[in-house]
Amino acid sequence: MLRSLVRLPVLLCFVLTACGIADETEVEAPPGAPLPGLSLEEAEQFSLGQTLFNRAFTPEEGLGPLFNQARCSSCHDLPTSGGHGAEPVTKVSHFDELTGCDLLREEGGDLLQASVVPALRAAGILPERIPVSATAVTELRAPSLYGIGLVEAIDDDDILIRADPDDLDGDGISGRPGLGPGGSLGRFGSKAQHTTLGEFIENAIRGEMGLTTPTHPVEEMPNGLPLPEGTDPVPEPEIEASDLHLLEAYLRFLAQPPRLILDNAEDQAASQEGESIFGSLGCATCHTPTLATGRHHSAVFNQKRFRIYSDLLLHDMGPDLADICAPGARPSEWRTARLVGLGLRSEFLHDGRARSVRDAILMHGGEAESARDRFQNLTPDSRRRILLFLRTL
Ligand code: HEC
Ligand code: HEC
Repeated sequence: MLRSLVRLPVLLCFVLTACGIADETEVEAPPGAPLPGLSLEEAEQFSLGQTLFNRAFTPEEGLGPLFNQARCSSCHDLPTSGGHGAEPVTKVSHFDELTGCDLLREEGGDLLQASVVPALRAAGILPERIPVSATAVTELRAPSLYGIGLVEAIDDDDILIRADPDDLDGDGISGRPGLGPGGSLGRFGSKAQHTTLGEFIENAIRGEMGLTTPTHPVEEMPNGLPLPEGTDPVPEPEIEASDLHLLEAYLRFLAQPPRLILDNAEDQAASQEGESIFGSLGCATCHTPTLATGRHHSAVFNQKRFRIYSDLLLHDMGPDLADICAPGARPSEWRTARLVGLGLRSEFLHDGRARSVRDAILMHGGEAESARDRFQNLTPDSRRRILLFLRTL
């Protein structure tokens, strides 16, 4: 009898495969701080990477000749480095039902660079203009990067299991996996078009700052035109692989911000009721409250459950939210936004068009239309509760 009792937890562990997965707060720390429990080496990489993330590059070091900002933190600085940003980034694309998505590579690509270095300006080249063949233009806002290393450490299967592209369960919500390079599962970017943090970072350093990398030692061309001689004197690559790895370590080790405890006990109780309203409206069908990382060689990522409020899948959000496309995402399809740290922000949705959480919800359409309608039909008091809950995330 005693023996079987002792065995019971072991057996349960086996059945649930949830044992060893720790409490969500284990991966939380104030905004901008590293994950708790980093090794000394990891902590050192975090701080070296942070310095690079905050450092302004100069044209003499390889900035540009086309670029948007001189440092990563120009766009990821609210409320700390690694957070979200208010600087818009212009993206364009051409979409056609028959031919699909075209990122306009011949005309300078889907990311517009709004600045040029003095040498390029002196040669008569101005910042990029919107290509004439673009069918959509958007002003993307930088999302917060807190907890992004946890997102990377989720097993593909855990994301794929939530996809229901043909809506077989008939709940009106489908969810398609994002498409990364070479057919891999995409999870980063608002169109879920990037697979790894390393790949996203390389893309950002080239596109936003104009630094060439060891794997892409070629400069962007202004609206697809060749660079005039002498406007890019720095030899390629302009950033080394070791520095890219440090940037990656910094972002990977950024902790999740903890949940906000509201001062007023009554509000705190109301926000807890808001959590169950969130579930009953169907918000949690896309905004999956928690996910867990898989097995990982670094202890801080090994089987950690964390709050995410996203399924990392693409959903059709209706015609009003439709603008640019990506190779694996139609104009109206967007990756479910992570809702963690919502209380730190003042602009919402991919282009910051919503200035309050309430407006962001009311702008949901497509697959989210019925959840939005249910939100709209709530009593003012229930609506207040769910908004309080969202503010604590
Ligand atoms: C000019 C503004 C700007 C600069 C500079 C910038 N970013 Fe971003 N960042 C953005 C925007 C806008 C997005 C959202 C892109 C999207 O939705 O596809 C983003 C998204 C990201 C993401 C993906 C987040 C997610 O949830 O999937 C990462 C990672 C990232 N940036 C890292 C960096 C790094 C590292 C640098 C410096 C090399 C950098 N960014 C510089 C604007 C910027
Ligand atoms: C069909 C899936 C789906 C459902 C259901 C859904 N959402 Fe969303 N939600 C999304 C997607 C996708 C985005 C990002 C859209 C964009 O950026 O344009 C988003 C964005 C948001 C945002 C803005 C976050 C930010 O970072 O800007 C909030 C807030 C939000 N949802 C809350 C809710 C609430 C509350 C409900 C329930 C009433 C809900 N959502 C239901 C998919 C969904």
